[in-house]
Amino acid sequence: MPSSFALSTIFITIIISIAVTNATPLHFREAPKFYNSANCPSITSPSSPADGTTNSTFCFNSNAINVAMTLDAAYLRGSMAAILSVLQHSSCPENIIFHFVASSSANSSDLHRTISTSFPYLQFKIYPFDDSAAAGLISTSIRAALDCPLNYARNYLADLIPSCIRKIVYLDSDLVLVDDIAKLAATPLTNDAVLAAPEYCNANFTSYFTPTFWSNPSLSLTFADRKACYFNTGVMVIDLERWRAGDYTTKIVEWMELQKRMRIYELGSLPPFLLVFAGNIAPVDHRWNQHGLGGDNFRGLCRDLHPGPVSLLHWSGKGKPWARLDANRPCPLDALWAPYDLLRTPYILDS
Ligand SMILES: *[C@@H]1O[C@H](CO)[C@@H](O)[C@H](O)[C@H]1NC(C)=O
Ligand SMILES: *[C@@H]1O[C@H](CO)[C@@H](O)[C@H](O)[C@H]1NC(C)=O
Ligand SMILES: *[C@@H]1O[C@H](CO)[C@@H](O)[C@H](O)[C@H]1NC(C)=O
Repeated sequence: MPSSFALSTIFITIIISIAVTNATPLHFREAPKFYNSANCPSITSPSSPADGTTNSTFCFNSNAINVAMTLDAAYLRGSMAAILSVLQHSSCPENIIFHFVASSSANSSDLHRTISTSFPYLQFKIYPFDDSAAAGLISTSIRAALDCPLNYARNYLADLIPSCIRKIVYLDSDLVLVDDIAKLAATPLTNDAVLAAPEYCNANFTSYFTPTFWSNPSLSLTFADRKACYFNTGVMVIDLERWRAGDYTTKIVEWMELQKRMRIYELGSLPPFLLVFAGNIAPVDHRWNQHGLGGDNFRGLCRDLHPGPVSLLHWSGKGKPWARLDANRPCPLDALWAPYDLLRTPYILDS
């Protein structure tokens, strides 16, 4: 058999596997088991049965670290890498509870199997999200990916997650942690803040809203008595109890409804969060969201890290590290994402 024939067969296999990734389930490797260190507090729920099985309502004591993420087909590989990175850098990985939001049209038993195959010891729950509710509120933005209804699931976490859970860390799917998530989760929500996130007061806040917004006196007054700064909604610590008490989901939805009638911003799910919360959030050190590594929205240029220490790398922006690695056109920092990739590459043949 001439070797060129074998080679071309392999290449055809590669092309086919890339072409069908959206249609067929991806196969992921099993992650190692991660153990609590000796001084980790117990998270057993007072009402848990003695045999160690988890409470069906998924309620644990306040020592548990609750993490929310979305799961969708296009970003699944990113979510898997993010989960691995969280566990790997945690000193108490067995105390982390994952809350995944997935489209109600997705096959949740498939998703469940995918997660538990790679993370057999993970405590997690999948919450179906009715994307038609959000879809009707979405206006088109400059980047089609931002219009995915699941992108808006973070608005609805307080409704989706059981009310016994008071605080949650929300994470996007295009990031990896390189530090202990317990430190992020312990961020004090000072001054009755509903959420905490890294703030960027040097960013040009004006540019996130349209001239229509700023020229309307009653709308531009929104920020009159706040020192509003930009923050990224990909990494947030949310006090769900305060969120529920203030009904912030409704406040965000009201801005989205206004956006449908008059265009007050260009980006997707971010500006309503700025409208409701900017200037009233608790700060988080910038090390917890080294964002923008996906490059700019127009030309997809590579970006470098911001100055300072790094606890979390976030490939926000157009380019995603898995897509650039697959295309053999990675940015230099994509090499930092690659070690967390759990995808079982179909073209590496086992012999
Ligand atoms: C689970 O925990 C919640 C809150 O602690 C409690 O109300 C509920 O009764 C528990 N359920 C079971 C089946 O133990
Ligand atoms: C979900 O996937 C499983 C296995 O792949 C299949 O047996 C089941 O019928 C699917 N459910 C739906 C609602 O499509
Ligand atoms: C901020 O953005 C607005 C709108 O995009 C622009 O008009 C203004 O010149 C910018 N200001 C600075 C200081 O760059």
